[in-house]
Amino acid sequence: MSILITGGTVITPTGSHAADVLVEGESIAALFAPGFAPAIDGATVVDASGKFVIPGGIDAHTHMELPFGGTFASDTFDTGTKAAAFGGTTTIIDFAVQRTGKNVHEGLAAWHAKADGNCHIDYGFHMIIGGVDDDSLKAMDALVDNEGVSSFKLFMAYPGVFYSDDGQILRAMQKARENGSMIMMHAENGIAIDVLIQQALSRGETDPINHGLTRPSELEAEATRRAISLAKVAGDTPLYIVHLSAYEALAAVAEARDNGRNVFAETCPQYLYLTLEDQLGAPGFEGAKWVCSTPLRTKHEPHQRDLWRGLRTNDLAIVSTDHCPFCFKDQKELGLGDFSKIPNGIGGVEHRVDLLYQGVVDGKISLQRWVETIATTPARMFGLYPRKGVIAPGSDADIVVYDPNGRTRISVDTHHMNMDHSAYEGYEIAGKVDTVISRGSVVVADGQYHGRKGHGRYLPRGLSTYLV
Ligand code: URP
Ligand code: ZN
Ligand code: ZN
Ligand code: ZN
Repeated sequence: MSILITGGTVITPTGSHAADVLVEGESIAALFAPGFAPAIDGATVVDASGKFVIPGGIDAHTHMELPFGGTFASDTFDTGTKAAAFGGTTTIIDFAVQRTGKNVHEGLAAWHAKADGNCHIDYGFHMIIGGVDDDSLKAMDALVDNEGVSSFKLFMAYPGVFYSDDGQILRAMQKARENGSMIMMHAENGIAIDVLIQQALSRGETDPINHGLTRPSELEAEATRRAISLAKVAGDTPLYIVHLSAYEALAAVAEARDNGRNVFAETCPQYLYLTLEDQLGAPGFEGAKWVCSTPLRTKHEPHQRDLWRGLRTNDLAIVSTDHCPFCFKDQKELGLGDFSKIPNGIGGVEHRVDLLYQGVVDGKISLQRWVETIATTPARMFGLYPRKGVIAPGSDADIVVYDPNGRTRISVDTHHMNMDHSAYEGYEIAGKVDTVISRGSVVVADGQYHGRKGHGRYLPRGLSTYLV
């Protein structure tokens, strides 16, 4: 089984070059100067003339079937990974969950049970540690050593659900320092936020926009600074701030990075494109579609401007989606009359590659940064490189042919995610996913699906190779 991709421009983090790419079986076999590939009997030829050839997207932050707020994220591993493939993403790293008082290994096993045999593309797991104690700290070592899980998410938000206090955070960071893993942080001061939520509700302010108003950016910045300090005290534990949305939090990350620290951050398309006023503040209950945490930020402060700049300067290393879809009907509606009961999350796993390409078209990032932030750095950050994230001989043949002359219109009518609305309804992208190859199999071509449930395999991950 061979595939020859001819006539395209291969984009890497360091540049662009014309090359023909030969795939043999599940791997990339060779790159040839244009026209110099040998003729191979029976090879499928993909004509990439006038198109970009990029490593398959890696979405390092998804939540398939996450239990949240009395319901479950609406995409299964089946529907969510198929939608991802349509959008040019060929690897996801999803978050397995341990809750307070529960067993970490059982939480991980439950996630394997959800994903096993159901995925259309390859997948790995981070582990949410929802209860830091002696048992879960010990389990962190076992996950790194035996299970291919080398990153752990902690929460400074959601008291009573996933929340860790500063002592628990410090202990987990010390453990990560010992075993070489990465701490991922949901940095929002959840204790202060809960006070603001109760005060808003007692004033009768129940609409979705209050979700954003009760989670001020200063409380994201405060938690980000505190996490950075705790990681320093723990011995410069590698720290990765998830779903960074506020310019003040970005400034804290930039300062730590200027000091040479192993501090990294991701942002998500929703923070680059959507705002508190235009989406979360939509009339009536409509804004519930855009309730996520961290929240969408005001357009009257320079959040989006600084986030795009952070993508250029690498203070933001990665763009993930934080894909956590809930249908409007019956799921978001759980919060009718009380914004604090709206399940938190936006679905976007299908649109990340396109939405970031629009940043290239708009002159906000380069083609090189596009590929680096959506594929190459996620692979390096989370121990998948060079198997994933690069077009090079020996790497898995996860490849996207992207058409800069195509157009994509985002809509609930055409997306493949299991959602009854789109957070990006009507957005037009001046580019289009043309062909998607996952481990040597064409899964999307001509807008048609050729993949299959069960093709995707679990990816045991090593330690990060991105540290300074
Ligand atoms: O709103 C969000 N982000 N939902 C998913 C859970 C999380 O905090 O990442
Ligand atoms: Zn989070
Ligand atoms: Zn998340
Ligand atoms: Zn076809």
